[in-house]
Amino acid sequence: MQNFEAKIVKASSLEELEEIRIELFGKKGYFAKEFEKLKNLPNEEKPKVAKELNEAKNALHILLQSKKDDLLAQAIQQRLEEERLDLSLFEPRELKGALHPVKQTLDTIIEYFVALNYSIETGPLVEDDFHNFEALNLPKHHPARDMQDTFYFEDGKLLRTHTSPVQIRTMQTQKPPIRMISPGAVFRRDFDLTHTPMFHQVEGLVVEEKGKVSFANLKFILEDFLRYMFGEVDVRFRPSFFPFTEPSAEVDISCIFCEGKGCRVCSHTGWLEVLGCGLVDPNVFAAVGYKNVSGYAFGLGVERFAMLLHRIGDLRSLFEGDLRLLEQFR
Ligand code: FA5
Ligand code: MG
Repeated sequence: MQNFEAKIVKASSLEELEEIRIELFGKKGYFAKEFEKLKNLPNEEKPKVAKELNEAKNALHILLQSKKDDLLAQAIQQRLEEERLDLSLFEPRELKGALHPVKQTLDTIIEYFVALNYSIETGPLVEDDFHNFEALNLPKHHPARDMQDTFYFEDGKLLRTHTSPVQIRTMQTQKPPIRMISPGAVFRRDFDLTHTPMFHQVEGLVVEEKGKVSFANLKFILEDFLRYMFGEVDVRFRPSFFPFTEPSAEVDISCIFCEGKGCRVCSHTGWLEVLGCGLVDPNVFAAVGYKNVSGYAFGLGVERFAMLLHRIGDLRSLFEGDLRLLEQFR
């Protein structure tokens, strides 16, 4: 008996305990044999021995059961330890995506012109000299080519420096009247607070029968467009030069960072250049074989618009992929 008690107390696993249980209470176990032996005892001894056996059996049964409970509790505890979840572990957040501020701005711009029935035209990023320069009244060795620092390929092709070549491609394949915009990426060897080597422009071109469009139409549409984009902002048309327009103007809006007082962003002028425009130069129409037409064209920098709309001080930060900036546009 003592022997069994000690065995039960020392059992270190449920399997071991089960073996002891069978050894004690199984069909061929200890108690089965002991009760069997009762037969051979004299009748007067039987009740006493049977009583002792039953008491011992019950006591061992209770001991076994409570040991089993202990071992079960231990096993659960052990599993809990092993499968413990460290809730303090870092789980990456699921981030909701958003349109890049340049794309958002581009969409806003496009919506304005689509509402006025402008078509959307596209052209290749790798251009040839004819479409990017020559047909735009910029013959080889023309000094105005220096206005746009160009990335060239060895075969003489180039990364387009503006979206104006799409004007040429559209006029080459379509008959007037034309009313188009062309959004897209352009490339220049440029890098400072307000210039990046890759940026986006939206080109605009309207061509009508000769005499049907004037500079007044151009001025009206651009002023209306800039009010749509920026609300109440000062707009100024500054005489300028583009080989492909005559007359030409650059359009500035008052610097929203310093309200025109002059700061780092506007190079202390109080104004920010947002687009170039003009009436299409007759040489451009000649290059595409258009006769008896007149038209206007404009080209704007999308990043410049995004900067102004969202008060971003350094245009380059739009392309750094910094989530602290981008998250604000969700
Ligand atoms: C042009 O590229 C002309 N093709 C625009 C044009 C079209 C004029 C049709 C007349 C008729 P410009 O080089 O000024 O013009 O560039 C247009 C706009 O692009 C600028 O006003 C400016 O907002 C933006 N821009 C120019 N260079 C950069 C640059 N490196 N990074 C970001 N924006 C730029
Ligand atoms: Mg310029």
